[in-house]
Amino acid sequence: MSKRPTFKEKYGPIALVAGASKGLGAAYARALASKGLDLVLVARSPGPLQETATQLSGQYGIRTWTVPCDLSAPDASNTIIEATQDLPIHFLVYNAALVHIGPYLQATSKAHLDIASANMLTPLTLLHHFGGKMIAKGRGGIVIMSSLAGFQGSGNLVTYAATKAFLRILAEGLWYEWSPLGVDVIACCAGATATPNYLATCPAKASPLAPPVQQPDAVVEECLNRIGKTPSFISGSSNRLASFFMHRVLPRKMVITLMGNNIKKMYGIS
Ligand SMILES: NC(=O)c1ccc[n+]([C@@H]2O[C@H](COP(=O)([O-])OP(=O)(O)OC[C@H]3O[C@@H](n4cnc5c(N)ncnc54)[C@H](OP(=O)(O)O)[C@@H]3O)[C@@H](O)[C@H]2O)c1
Repeated sequence: MSKRPTFKEKYGPIALVAGASKGLGAAYARALASKGLDLVLVARSPGPLQETATQLSGQYGIRTWTVPCDLSAPDASNTIIEATQDLPIHFLVYNAALVHIGPYLQATSKAHLDIASANMLTPLTLLHHFGGKMIAKGRGGIVIMSSLAGFQGSGNLVTYAATKAFLRILAEGLWYEWSPLGVDVIACCAGATATPNYLATCPAKASPLAPPVQQPDAVVEECLNRIGKTPSFISGSSNRLASFFMHRVLPRKMVITLMGNNIKKMYGIS
């Protein structure tokens, strides 16, 4: 009987994590480094990015490259593609996302377009480039971070939630096309996760029934265990239960109202 390939044999030698210096992105980078993959790390602030790279190469003896860039900028994909031209990247995590919390009209239309660029347009180009290279070699893995916010319209997170729905549907379609060609694609639909970005918004608990906030490492571990087995998943059993109730039991109008009211409560929006 032939031995099952290790994670590194299947998806190595190099992974690229877009949005890698903090929270879930740093947790993906750490988990991949612990499996022996070398890493290309992307984020806006060069300082924290370099710190993450230095820490991971010291701890796991891997090679790292950093690409400081803003994923909402029109030239973001080109910057990353040029910086990684000769690197055999067989694993991609698209983690970074922009969000506006508050009424739609309180943000400028430019801010909404920036959210669309970082959360939809840049991933489309990076998936085309890196996915194409993986398909040409017949192997690879791609994680796309989505969110429970994208399972229904979400007042006060309007554009963000719509982009997260887009990403889940995108990942599922690519899973269908690419898994027979050797490239696994998965959308990770996380619920509230204790990342620095999430905690910095100082959210209050929306209701005593709200699922517990997850730790980034738990979300990442579940995702890396599930890739190759499913096109998308909801992280954590409490989130899955809440989602089942919301989307299989309650009427859609009630779900949208519940979600909007919870977000208002969490962020003290009147
Ligand atoms: N946290 C949650 O509760 C939660 C829930 C559901 C889904 N998610 C999803 O999980 C992912 C991570 O979310 P998070 O907010 O918690 O973030 P995170 O993983 O804690 O950190 C975001 C990372 O992305 C980088 N980043 C942010 N905007 C960027 C940009 N425009 N260009 C380049 N890099 C950028 C940040 O570094 P710089 O700031 O230096 O750029 C940081 O390294 C997102 O896709 C989000 O939708 C999160």
